[in-house]
Amino acid sequence: MLSPVTVLVVVLAAGSGFVVTGALSAVDLVPFAVVGVALTLPLLTLGHAEDEVRAGRRSMARIRELLAAEELPVPARPRRPDGDRVEFDRVGFSYDGETPVLHDVDLVLEPGTVTALVGPSGAGKSTLAALLPRFADVDAGAIRIGGVDVREIVPAELYRRVSFVLQDVRLLRDTVADNIRLGRPDAGPAEVERVARAAHIHDRIMALPRGYDSVVGEDALFSGGEAQRVSVARALLADARLVVLDEAASYADPESEAQVQAALSRLCAGRTLLVIAHRLPTVAGADQIVVLDRGRVVERGRHDDLLAAGGTYARLWRAQHATDLAGADLKGTVG
Ligand SMILES: Nc1ncnc2c1ncn2[C@@H]1O[C@H](COP(=O)(O)OP(=O)(O)O)[C@@H](O)[C@H]1O
Ligand SMILES: [Mg+2]
Repeated sequence: MLSPVTVLVVVLAAGSGFVVTGALSAVDLVPFAVVGVALTLPLLTLGHAEDEVRAGRRSMARIRELLAAEELPVPARPRRPDGDRVEFDRVGFSYDGETPVLHDVDLVLEPGTVTALVGPSGAGKSTLAALLPRFADVDAGAIRIGGVDVREIVPAELYRRVSFVLQDVRLLRDTVADNIRLGRPDAGPAEVERVARAAHIHDRIMALPRGYDSVVGEDALFSGGEAQRVSVARALLADARLVVLDEAASYADPESEAQVQAALSRLCAGRTLLVIAHRLPTVAGADQIVVLDRGRVVERGRHDDLLAAGGTYARLWRAQHATDLAGADLKGTVG
């Protein structure tokens, strides 16, 4: 309604009415037309400004929320872990202090082994995995790396040892290179390129308008699988001995899936891995499979033994295998 054209048409139409009835002389109509059109721009600007104030208020609320979030306590007398053996010792956890999400979880990750977490949706797999990089602290029991409670390890040391590639990858609105460098800001361009190649994302980055200097969300728009490969590159650069991996349940296209799998196998070589597994090869090839159900470990062992045991795992595996053979989406069966 406030566009210059509409205003001009309205002023001229109404004005000519007055001119015809003789209430206004034609010459007197001119200033109305000129001022009317000139007024539209400031009014439009006011409208836009109000939108911006509203968006600013929403951002302010989010920033307040972030600032109000409690920091995890930093250890007063930090200790250095001796080795990379990970031990979950009778771990209990709840998000709200009332409904327990994990009960009495015992789990050992031997250095250089792959542990697959499987179980129905909502069993607590993501929660358990997130406790190792200390996204939250346990309510009961302890998690130890190299014999030292993660709460006694200084954060910088912890993140030198533990890196993670999560399902829902968040990239920062910053250059692609800086996104990869997040875990090791001092890394040079050659190193960034080396890990990007290893993560099968280098060619995609070079195809961007400004290569590694493209900004995520502006001239670098990544698909889910591509963003995950960027986060694999980030984890490769950080070069931690322990990797927590939440496998994506499905990819848009098989090519992207193959690339992500190739990137992940580079990341996992020779490291200790805790993987929330949605894919048959990862599950079947794991050194240890841990089946979670409603926050408890209900079964553990190797693939063949668990299949032979005919319990929850055998049921989940058969269900997934059936849908897999039918070419259906795996999501929802093990996930
Ligand atoms: N941030 C959160 N706040 C509160 N409850 C949560 C949060 N994340 C997960 N939960 C709850 O914890 C339980 C376990 O969730 P999750 O660990 O995501 O399971 P899984 O990864 O096995 O599907 C679920 O009941 C879920 O609703
Ligand atoms: Mg999950």
